[in-house]
Formats: sequence, C-alpha cells, structure tokens
Amino acid sequence: MPTLLKIDSSPMGETSVSRKLTAEFAKTWIKAHPNGTVISRDLTTLNIPVINGDWVAAAYTPEDARTAEQKKVLAVSDLLIAELQKADEYVLGIPMHNFSIPSTLKLWIDQIVRIGKTIAYSATGAEGLLKGKKATLLLASGGVYEQGSGREAFNFVTPYLRTIFGFMGITDVHFIAAGGTQKLMTGEVDPQTFLAPSLERVHAQASL
Ligand SMILES: Cc1cc2nc3c(=O)[nH]c(=O)nc-3n(C[C@H](O)[C@H](O)[C@H](O)COP(=O)(O)O)c2cc1C
Repeated sequence: MPTLLKIDSSPMGETSVSRKLTAEFAKTWIKAHPNGTVISRDLTTLNIPVINGDWVAAAYTPEDARTAEQKKVLAVSDLLIAELQKADEYVLGIPMHNFSIPSTLKLWIDQIVRIGKTIAYSATGAEGLLKGKKATLLLASGGVYEQGSGREAFNFVTPYLRTIFGFMGITDVHFIAAGGTQKLMTGEVDPQTFLAPSLERVHAQASL
C-alpha cells in the first residue's frame, strides 16, 4: 500500500498558495492510488524544538545506551523520521521566506538529518539512508526566480533543498515553483488564473 507524506510549512493558513498546491497534489495522488494512505504533517503546529547540545549528545549515543532522558530528547526526531521511513513519496509545500526556507522547515530538517537513521558515515564518506523515495517540492514566492528572470541567485530554496534531500539519499526530487504571488496581493491577477499553470503541473506530477 503506497503512502504519501504531505508536509506544510506556510504560516498563512487558508490564504497560503503552497498549501493550496499540496492539498491539490494529495487529492490527485489519492485518486491515482485509491488504496494509498496520506500522512499529513503541519510543521506550523508541531512546536518542533531547536536542536541543542543534549540533542546532539543523545543522537550520537548508541541506541541501547541512551538514558530515558535522552530518549525523550529524541522523541520528536523519532516521530518525524518514522513518517519519512514509512512513506514512499513526499510532497512539501514551501513558502520562500527571506530568500530561503521558513524557519519551521529548517527545524524539521535539523530533527530528521540524523546519524544512523537518515545518514550514515563510513570510510568512503556520507551515505543517505532514504534511498528510493520520491519527493515533489511545491514552492511559492512573492517574486519570480526562474531561469532567465535575472534573480536566480536570490533563490537559496531550490539549491539548499536539492542538497539536503540528496544528502539523505533522496535524489528523485521534482520542483514546481509558483513564483510571483505578490501579484495576487496587489490584485494584478486573480487566484484562478495565477494558480492554473502550477495546478496543471501538480496534477501531472501527482498522477505519475
Ligand atoms: C516572512 C516572509 C518573508 C518573505 N520573504 C520573501 C522573499 O524573500 N522573497 C519573495 O519572493 N517572497 C517573500 N515572501 C513572500 C512569500 O514567499 C509569498 O507570500 C508566498 O506566497 C508564500 O507562500 P504561502 O502563500 O504558501 O505562504 C515572504 C513572505 C513572508 C511572510
């Protein structure tokens, strides 16, 4: 039974563009996988802790030697990693914040990139342990950063996410960017017209 993990990180609720795209992706995906399961994770409501020295010490302590306190420190990380391991496919909604990813998404990344769980080190270097998974990353930004826009260098979202997913072994990563959402705020374009090209790509990707 295939499982999709849907992750949202926009704080903008109903008005969020990235949330509209992830919702539509999940709706289309479940039609294409009628016996599938969707796990939904909203990073804005989980209160993900910032990693600290205790977290790092716990993560580097062998599992069977961890104290009860260390197990508690890693509980959120365990939960989020279990979701990644269970799912075959991921869809993430990502708003651009200050040319980068939202802080909640960075907190999630810090919890899931973990030695022995999602990455391993050997004599030959680092190896990602989430091999064979597929990810679709749905980006929303006020401005446009596509090739040819002249603003590609301001986009730290795409290269960072490609790198960190690849680091965990996830190399089948597909990006769909809904750039220019500021036009929605100024009323230059209506939501339906603005979303149409992104939704078309979302439907095609979710049906694969
Ligand atoms: C705190 C904050 C920072 C933002 N920084 C940028 C930015 O650096 N570049 C940009 O193009 N848009 C920026 N925006 C606009 C958002 O990317 C845009 O509103 C987008 O639609 C957010 O996705 P969402 O609708 O799913 O929340 C920012 C918005 C917020 C709230």
